[in-house]
Amino acid sequence: MKSTIVLSLLLFVSFNIYSQDDVEKRVTDLLSKMTLKEKIGQMAQYHLWSKGGEDNIKDDIKKGLVGSLLNAGDLKTKNDLQKIAVEESRLGIPLIYGRDVIHGYRTMFPIPLGQAASWNPALVQEAARIAAVEASSEGIKWTFAPMIDNARDPRWGRIAESCGEDVYLASKLAASMVKGFQGENLSDAESIAACAKHYVGYGAAEGGRDYNTTYIPEQLLREIYLPPFKSAVDAGVATLMSAFNDINGIPASGNDFTLNKVLRGEWNFDGFVVSDWSSVTEMITHGYAKDEYEAAMKSANAGVDMEMVSLSYADNLEKLIQDGLVSEEVVNTAAGNILRIKFRCGLFENPYTKEPKVSKLLTENHLAAAKQLAEQSIVMLKNNTVLPLSKKVKTIAVFGPLADSPEDQMGTWSPDGKKENTQTPLTSLKKSLEGIAEIKYLDVLENSRTIDKSKFEDAVKLAELSDVILLFLGEEAILSGEAHSRAFLNLPGAQDDLFETLSHAGKPIVVVIMAGRPLTFPNISERADAILYAWHPGTMGGPAIADILVGLTSPSGKLPVTFPRTVGQIPIYYSHKNTGRPPSENMLGIPIGTPLDPKGFVSNYLDVDFTPAYPFGYGLSYTKFEYSNLQMFPNEVKNKSSFSVSFDLNNIGDYEATEVVQLYVRDLYASVTRPVKELKRFERVTLKPGDKKTILFQLSTDDLSFINNEMLRVTEPGEFKLWVGGDSDCGLGTSFFITE
Ligand code: GLC
Repeated sequence: MKSTIVLSLLLFVSFNIYSQDDVEKRVTDLLSKMTLKEKIGQMAQYHLWSKGGEDNIKDDIKKGLVGSLLNAGDLKTKNDLQKIAVEESRLGIPLIYGRDVIHGYRTMFPIPLGQAASWNPALVQEAARIAAVEASSEGIKWTFAPMIDNARDPRWGRIAESCGEDVYLASKLAASMVKGFQGENLSDAESIAACAKHYVGYGAAEGGRDYNTTYIPEQLLREIYLPPFKSAVDAGVATLMSAFNDINGIPASGNDFTLNKVLRGEWNFDGFVVSDWSSVTEMITHGYAKDEYEAAMKSANAGVDMEMVSLSYADNLEKLIQDGLVSEEVVNTAAGNILRIKFRCGLFENPYTKEPKVSKLLTENHLAAAKQLAEQSIVMLKNNTVLPLSKKVKTIAVFGPLADSPEDQMGTWSPDGKKENTQTPLTSLKKSLEGIAEIKYLDVLENSRTIDKSKFEDAVKLAELSDVILLFLGEEAILSGEAHSRAFLNLPGAQDDLFETLSHAGKPIVVVIMAGRPLTFPNISERADAILYAWHPGTMGGPAIADILVGLTSPSGKLPVTFPRTVGQIPIYYSHKNTGRPPSENMLGIPIGTPLDPKGFVSNYLDVDFTPAYPFGYGLSYTKFEYSNLQMFPNEVKNKSSFSVSFDLNNIGDYEATEVVQLYVRDLYASVTRPVKELKRFERVTLKPGDKKTILFQLSTDDLSFINNEMLRVTEPGEFKLWVGGDSDCGLGTSFFITE
């Protein structure tokens, strides 16, 4: 009997699966023992050079004045500092270690914008899981990811970290990433707490300039910017991060409406909110707080539980409570939220990380998953049959600053990736084509910004001796990500000139672009024989690109963001409103009429088409897919009920390939104007040549809801359209009615 009790106790403790009630009891019990200083201590996140360095940090940890550390060094450092917290502080409350594990830890996956191009939530979830396994093996228990700011402006460098422009796709991927990082149980040694960021509206920065002002009407906030965070909360995300930007004049890190009213009041979120790096004290710079005393007051009262790096809470909360400007209840709630997540993470039972006997980094499975996700993220924008490379191709000329740039290939936020692990396109092509074709490489441009054209002539000579030119262009990683907004979207440096020069060599040119955002490349779009958009594809980007080039796999990626023809079109996104004067097909081209008859008084430009270079959801494969037999049942749908949509997909080409089938709807008239299209379903479907599959989507009238002028989510009866196809310009459509 005794052994059974011991065994079950061991099992219980080892899995430390505490019920929600147990956790609540433990939180309440611990809070009751804590001093005010210790509670405020939980609300402070240091880094290794806070307070002048490690000795002072150790001192504060011992005094129970530190709740978390970010970027806390190697495993030994983390365990040593944890030992002070657990074994030398009065109550032994463990630290939680945070880190930006955004798209992989040592095995780097494509940047999130690239992952979004896979439209594969299951694989994105697996990638997050692998990142968690690798990061947790080095003592990290909390990642500042997923970044789920909807981004409609490619000038904004952080679009690279986002899931793109669409609320439905971003919401699906947000849930996948949270589940991947957190696993079945947060206390699992290989699970890490996720952090949905940056709450909220950061991607709406005016001018695409990072950290800039945002004006977001509540309707838009609730319709476009909040839903991915709601999806993350519904998926059980442990934490959120408040953003740098101000929203309609109130900084996100002091915003009672978004934090207390929506996140806590409407969504019942019970994890904790961490500020962004010094975003609490930056409210002084915003002009929203006179000093750190007032900044601390406004953030704490708004519901920011933990202050990242700045120390206004540590320095002012006690006095704010004495002065009656912050209630002790606010501190109890904040510290309680933090303790709740620490309990759920199992940190009290397992505060230390053992060095794994066998490294969990860069395993074969991890690399295989990274290659698969890189393959599925690559979007083929053009192909005039030059791809896949024919077996007759015996000499391949390779140029371009991204052909062999392991650092750049990993993209932004790859602090734990190592360039020596990156397999570049050049090395992969040499390996996969050994004995089949000769690769002739010339390092023509040192990096993406180089303007030195001195090697162009040699490049042409080499190209003339080849059967095909592979040109790897794009952005260095340092041109992408935080604080890296660009006013122009063209290829930096002399890359366009290099393409122009090589286009006179009289050989087919395949252009592969690696970048952290949509770029504009009109000359290449018009004159290249094929274009692959590979984003920054990570550790295994080379093998993924090589396999697609030689035809071992067909490209299947679809754009998660609209590609403008020119930066002047921004903002340009597919789910736009119709306006009262929409342009029509006959306005394509440069519709300049006479001053008296400008060929239509409509919403367009005189100097560029109103359409994008490439629409949201667009991407080609090596085969051809045909959509047919679209049916709805019923096609008169009672409000508050469900309906089905089915259609046939046919692979009428010569290659096995995967199509991301997409379903869009439009509410033709409502109490507020509605977008001309909204993505409501998608699915990756793989078919062999000649195969056909009937796809069935189940929807409900709730899927057609929107936020009305009373800020209520409603579905209004009326006429709707729906389309299915391979991108947001798709054409197989039907009309239907929602009745009372
Ligand atoms: C940065 C970023 C945020 C990141 C944090 C910690 O400024 O805005 O996304 O998680 O600081 O590195």
